[in-house]
Amino acid sequence: MDTEEYPIKHKEILLEISEKFKTPTYIYFEDILQENVQKYRDAFKNYGQFRQMYAYKANTNPAICKILKNLNVGADCVSEGELHMAKYTGVNPRDVIFTSNGKTDESIEFALNFGCTINIDGFEEIEIIDEISKRLDKKPKISFRINPEVNPHTHDKIATGVKESKFGINIRQAIEAYKLAKQKNFEILGIHCHIGSQITEIEPFIEEAEKISKIVTDLHDLGINLKFVDLGGGLGIDYPHDGNYNGLTHDDLANGIIPIIENLNKDLGYEIELILEPGRSIVGNAGILLTKVLSIKRTPYKKFINVDAGFNDLIRPAMYDAYHKILNLSNLSDGDEIFDIAGNLCESGDILGKNRKIAAKRNDVLAIFDAGAYGFSMSSNYNSTLKPAEILITKDKKVKLLRGREKFEDLLKIY
Ligand code: LLP
Repeated sequence: MDTEEYPIKHKEILLEISEKFKTPTYIYFEDILQENVQKYRDAFKNYGQFRQMYAYKANTNPAICKILKNLNVGADCVSEGELHMAKYTGVNPRDVIFTSNGKTDESIEFALNFGCTINIDGFEEIEIIDEISKRLDKKPKISFRINPEVNPHTHDKIATGVKESKFGINIRQAIEAYKLAKQKNFEILGIHCHIGSQITEIEPFIEEAEKISKIVTDLHDLGINLKFVDLGGGLGIDYPHDGNYNGLTHDDLANGIIPIIENLNKDLGYEIELILEPGRSIVGNAGILLTKVLSIKRTPYKKFINVDAGFNDLIRPAMYDAYHKILNLSNLSDGDEIFDIAGNLCESGDILGKNRKIAAKRNDVLAIFDAGAYGFSMSSNYNSTLKPAEILITKDKKVKLLRGREKFEDLLKIY
């Protein structure tokens, strides 16, 4: 057992939190967030114009957004709500990109008034943005999301740049899209693509960077000079924590991508800005979900630990068969029985961890690791449950309640 692991190191404070604020509760660690931003900075330090735009979808708790803004990290937003959050947080619109395959008129208006980059996803959207910007008398800053047809070797549901994907303009139509945009009153800033999430190999990133660079060079030959290349989300993370993880490091990513972009710069005759939009690798391991054991059940076939969280709180195991390490903070001994950790929703698929060797009894507090990304942000009120509380452990080890647990009255709100 790695006693350096955060939930173990902070065991006492976490058990106190579970008493005081009850469970289920998300806990975030500010120092890990900061370290994660720094890891990208260190790896890409030799590339002058490198920028991180944190993918808000991973976790938009306002305090997390603020911490990242104060570290000069931009925002990758995918809805009007996320744009509001970026504006509320004080992120400079220069550091905000708005990506979505289905933008509402209201979200486009908001983006135009805010002044961020609008990442166009399809041919009809060129006309829609042209029309709305004329109506508002604005000159939109734009880029295109290109689907580069790259297999990222990840779960099907989070592969976003394969040729059948709903996202972006197909790579074969990319030049045509820019030519059309050139006829409009647009400020054409860049090119974007995102091939998927939880990627643990370098090859897909290399293929993506090479394909996109080729387009940027072709555009340059046509007199369209882009200012940025945005290669989308960041690294996958180590979920199993079993010592066998050999996924990509930040250095692997930088060493894979930078030479390709430097070659591109030679063709262009100037240095293009390189953007990444990491989400999971910024907040994933910076958060855990605390849940309490309600009861133990031993059937003739299987054994269950029933807990007070479910896929309403953390949907990743049910939705992507994702593995999250689970540890009993009240009893760190290994145990000799195998249990499924069962959520308390009325669905058979509500299992947070399958076949885990763990010792537990009623009222013990379990920590579900790596829940900072796509945890709370994907939570719901299914089964009329209340969304969990969110707490920050600050750099100086203060416990700060960021968002209280929902109350029953919140379910009665009628507008
Ligand atoms: N940029 C764009 C345009 C994206 O669509 C995404 C994630 C990211 C950046 C951030 O990617 P990351 O650095 O986190 O890999 N809910 C799923 C993940 C969905 C990811 C969707 N797009 C999960 O829990 O695994």
